[in-house]
Amino acid sequence: MEPISFARGIPAPECLPVEELADCARAVIERDGRTVLSYGSAGGYAPLREWIAERHGVEPARILLTNGSLQGFVFLAQHFAGAKVLVERPTYDRPLKILRGLGVDVVALPMDEEGLDPDALDRELRSGPSPAFLYTIPTFQNPTGRTLSLDRRRRVVELAHDHDLLVLEDDPYGLVRFEGESQPTLFELAGGDHVVYSSSFSKTVAPGVRVGYFVLPNELERELEALAVSTYITPALIGQATVHEFLRRGSFEPNLERVRNLLRIRRDAMLDALERDLGDEAKWNRPEGGYFLWLELPDETDTRELLGRAEAAGVTFVPGADFGGAPASARLAYSFVAPEEVGEGVRRLAALVEQPVAA
Ligand SMILES: Cc1ncc(COP(=O)(O)O)c(C=O)c1O
Repeated sequence: MEPISFARGIPAPECLPVEELADCARAVIERDGRTVLSYGSAGGYAPLREWIAERHGVEPARILLTNGSLQGFVFLAQHFAGAKVLVERPTYDRPLKILRGLGVDVVALPMDEEGLDPDALDRELRSGPSPAFLYTIPTFQNPTGRTLSLDRRRRVVELAHDHDLLVLEDDPYGLVRFEGESQPTLFELAGGDHVVYSSSFSKTVAPGVRVGYFVLPNELERELEALAVSTYITPALIGQATVHEFLRRGSFEPNLERVRNLLRIRRDAMLDALERDLGDEAKWNRPEGGYFLWLELPDETDTRELLGRAEAAGVTFVPGADFGGAPASARLAYSFVAPEEVGEGVRRLAALVEQPVAA
């Protein structure tokens, strides 16, 4: 039986603009090969830095391009190694592992359907020692798909200002909204003050180009750039130049529209299937963009145990506990699976949920 993966938080193959990127890569090598095939500045390919800087209304020197945004996260975490960092519970598991590996004291703050709980953040900032930063994914969060409400965005920004707290806003999914109104980013609401913004072309163009970026205060940019130089000498300019060519040609917006449609169809297929097969047993949210939704099964369920049976039955997901979530929760990615397979995947899963463990 072909396994159906709701575990893979990656784009479906048809989301990738393969032909267009092939054309962009050829064009940049032909036009600017002596630059993009050589070593370059650790800050990244200058025309792309300029494009991103303009989009965010900052000087190009404040943009650090990295080999994917997770690489930038590693640099930031290294910079604050050994400190205390606040995160959401649940949150993306890779940053958690990176932080713990660097001896960071990770303090997880509760969240609900509206995102991070600002009261909990306030209490933590008043009581504990000062954290180096708060790591948050306010829009279509990985793993829950939740989005921080506008009121809460304002509160978080106010708290950052009042407590001199640095906020890292990780926003790879904001542009893949396929429904509803866009929310201002924390970076925008704060006028750039106290907020470091990171994003990536992994979800809007392709993860294989490995182009992520950070918008930083000048001094932090220089410090993280120094960490980049000592790690990989030069970023992969060819990927950055290819993305820049993609943007320059005006291919970005039409591609985004295409990707949003592909994701919406998948999300709808998953919502329909959940309603049909798990409507009485489980709860889930209805994300308006991004890759994931959050499934909450009856309290007595242990999704790590369920996963073992699910794999044998040909369907996979990631247990919520892997992200610091409750044992009965799970992350379902709708981004990867073909729409016509989503229903079968949910059917396989639902059959196991309804079956007592002992059976
Ligand atoms: C919230 C979040 N941040 C960062 C990343 C890493 O993205 P990149 O491919 O740019 O390293 C991901 C990837 O899934 C993600 O979900």
